[in-house]
Amino acid sequence: MPFRRLLALPCLWLLALATSLLASEPGLSTTFSAGGQTDTRVDRLLALYVPAGQPVTPFLKAGPFTAKWEGQIESSIRGSFTFSAETSGNFKCTINGQVAWDGTGPKTIQINQGANKISAEFTSAAQGDSFVRFFWQSKEFPLEPVPPMALAHEPTPAEQAGQQLRQGRLLFAQLNCAACHADAQRIPAKGQGMPELGQLAPLLSGFSTKYNPDFLTEWIADPHSIRPGTHMPKIFTGPDAGQKAADLAAALTQGEAPKPGTKPKAEDGLAGGALFANLGCIGCHQRPDAEVAGSPSLGRIPLAHLTDKYHLRVEALAAFLKDPSANYAATRMPHFRLNDEESTQLATYLLLNGRMIKRKAIQGDATRGAQLLVSAGCLNCHAGMPATTQPALAIIQKANDKGCLASTPATRGTAPDYTLNTEQRAALKAFLHTDLASLKQDVAAEFATRQVKDLNCVACHARDNASSTWAKVDAESRKLRAALPAKDHVEGEPVPDAPVPALTWTGEKLRHDWLVKFLSGQVEPKPRPWLIGRMPGFAHRAEGLALGFAHQHGLPQQEVAEAAPNETKVKFGETLLGNSGGFNCIQCHGLGDQAATAVFEAPAINFVQSIERLRKGYFARWVMAPTRIDPETKMPKYADPEGMTQLTDPLDGKGAEQFEAIREYLRTVK
Ligand code: HEC
Ligand code: HEC
Ligand code: HEC
Ligand code: HEC
Ligand code: HEC
Repeated sequence: MPFRRLLALPCLWLLALATSLLASEPGLSTTFSAGGQTDTRVDRLLALYVPAGQPVTPFLKAGPFTAKWEGQIESSIRGSFTFSAETSGNFKCTINGQVAWDGTGPKTIQINQGANKISAEFTSAAQGDSFVRFFWQSKEFPLEPVPPMALAHEPTPAEQAGQQLRQGRLLFAQLNCAACHADAQRIPAKGQGMPELGQLAPLLSGFSTKYNPDFLTEWIADPHSIRPGTHMPKIFTGPDAGQKAADLAAALTQGEAPKPGTKPKAEDGLAGGALFANLGCIGCHQRPDAEVAGSPSLGRIPLAHLTDKYHLRVEALAAFLKDPSANYAATRMPHFRLNDEESTQLATYLLLNGRMIKRKAIQGDATRGAQLLVSAGCLNCHAGMPATTQPALAIIQKANDKGCLASTPATRGTAPDYTLNTEQRAALKAFLHTDLASLKQDVAAEFATRQVKDLNCVACHARDNASSTWAKVDAESRKLRAALPAKDHVEGEPVPDAPVPALTWTGEKLRHDWLVKFLSGQVEPKPRPWLIGRMPGFAHRAEGLALGFAHQHGLPQQEVAEAAPNETKVKFGETLLGNSGGFNCIQCHGLGDQAATAVFEAPAINFVQSIERLRKGYFARWVMAPTRIDPETKMPKYADPEGMTQLTDPLDGKGAEQFEAIREYLRTVK
């Protein structure tokens, strides 16, 4: 295939890239130095944004720093590309030894097919915020940030050490080691430092009306057997462990008895199954009957135990689904804004398809249980009770393979069992051997990296080269939908299989304030009403995620305030948008109350919402070359590779200026 055609087919181009990258890891290996210390991590992009006075990574002190990126730029073809940068400090970059940026303006250089060695260095700004953003363009495509899909590197020992410290630091926070091993000096006060530190475990109340006490006994005795990967450790390990768990379960379920609920209806169960697929629950969770059906888990969280936990109390489970954070602010289970019907259907589906376990009940003693709640350390995690009795943090820092870090029951003694694997133990030990100063500070870009993984955004969204779990388990979803009686599709009704946007460019695309609201689950109406799925809320993390996404792309939290729209441009823009003498954008895009004129072409987001949510630079880049961002999009491309459009009037057919005029007009529409 000739060179030009290859580039003109971004789909193939990306595919070829993805395959060529399999040998190495995505992203660039980035080494930071500050205050005489160094720290290495992997970054998806060659970009950073560090506000003045803040550290560049949690492991380094705030102050002047340098950053050095190493790796490869991958290209499926040989050709010449022009590189440029926006930066506040001193930035230099070479590719295959040729200068790609030295501060004197864009450089055009030859790139080989396959891997091209890239090496870049940044010295922070003397004053103000430090940032760098790195771009490329060619004859075939306009200026864009070098995409994460084009960056790769070979892992180095320094990077693995940095990765291990990060894993240890996160485990230390999430597993709440400081809840029992106290240190007033090294652990920051609540609400300060690393956000994951000291988050409270669920409130232990209201259990008597919803949970089965025998199930609770089993959870307390061995939480990992029910949910692998849970942050709650097994507290009791001696021969009386079962009895203690039963005592605690008795204490926790004292009080009001469950009300007799309504009998679950089979048809609700079928509707709930379809919702489980259509809302994306299936991306994070295994189906309740999955163990029987033997579906691959793909790391999804099991729910088969719910029938054992709730028996058939549909109302209690529905209440949980309507607000999963009610008793657990830090939960990773998102908020779906379910209505009564949806939550009842989902709860019915889960409870009718789970499993019940017949077991010999152990009679618990509620009085003994109430004492254990305090003495066993339950309330240290569950109610933030201060740690008093356990070895202090300074002691466990030196202990290595003992207590909670033991690999055998003999060396564990009376310490809790987190079921840590070898890698996790090594990471915790490596982290405990640092001075722990990193707990007192955090960096938004790294917070976002951690949370995207921990909250499993890729359950529903593609990102960089990864496709979503939701897409991977499409066959399972189809089966669940097929169990419902077939219905004809009514034009305009939302569909289950429309594409969900990828998260590759989120930080460059969406404005901070809009993104915070959206991630908290507070944007109505939803941007894509044609999708049955909806973006669930992650209120607890929204602020940090939004800021971190922007910083990952080298962008500040807020954009520079714009002047009032230019009147001449506004006039041009109004014409360009319409169907007489314009591009007829309103065919697919609604404009405030005005609906799109031909929605069946390809439904698109209402322009009024787009103006509110999109960053300025992204608007321009998208309209110029939509398939560079989403190879599958149905949005037409209006500009040729030189940036000229079919409409020679106004603005001499210059795409960039015409699209800017459209944007100026849209800013005036309420
Ligand atoms: C619920 C309270 C609790 C939590 C939470 C907890 N520990 Fe422990 N830890 C203990 C107890 C109890 C012991 C045993 C003390 C003894 O044997 O006297 C212990 C012992 C240890 C020891 C051995 C100390 C020694 O010198 O023998 C290490 C190391 C340790 N814990 C590390 C950790 C780490 C790391 C975490 C977080 C992953 C953690 N602990 C979380 C209660 C806790
Ligand atoms: C982004 C991932 C994600 C999605 C999507 C998701 N969940 Fe969850 N869910 C979790 C996690 C993680 C937990 C474990 C609890 C925690 O970490 O707080 C959980 C817990 C639960 C629980 C409680 C389990 C127990 O043992 O009591 C139920 C029930 C549940 N989810 C149902 C659903 C349903 C129904 C949907 C779809 C409407 C859904 N989840 C969508 C991540 C998700
Ligand atoms: C190291 C912190 C920690 C300790 C100590 C701890 N828990 Fe937990 N517990 C958690 C976390 C975190 C969860 C939520 C599950 C998750 O996020 O993985 C949880 C969940 C639970 C639940 C399930 C709540 C629900 O509504 O589904 C119960 C019950 C519970 N814990 C009881 C106890 C009891 C009883 C003890 C003392 C024997 C105890 N926990 C000790 C951290 C802890
Ligand atoms: C249960 C599935 C699901 C999960 C899990 C999920 N999302 Fe979404 N998300 C969606 C859907 C569906 C949309 C499209 C909603 C719309 O536009 O109406 C969306 C839209 C978005 C958008 C807007 C993108 C754009 O270009 O318009 C962002 C940003 C986003 N999600 C971020 C996240 C982040 C960050 C996480 C993890 C913390 C996450 N999502 C987890 C389903 C999910
Ligand atoms: C054939 C239908 C169609 C036409 C005509 C069309 N678009 Fe689009 N547009 C789309 C689709 C599809 C999307 C992607 C929607 C999504 O992200 O789910 C989109 C997205 C956009 C976005 C990003 C919106 C956002 O909030 O994320 C902008 C900006 C945009 N189009 C501008 C324009 C402009 C300006 C024109 C006219 C010059 C135009 N579009 C013409 C279909 C169209």
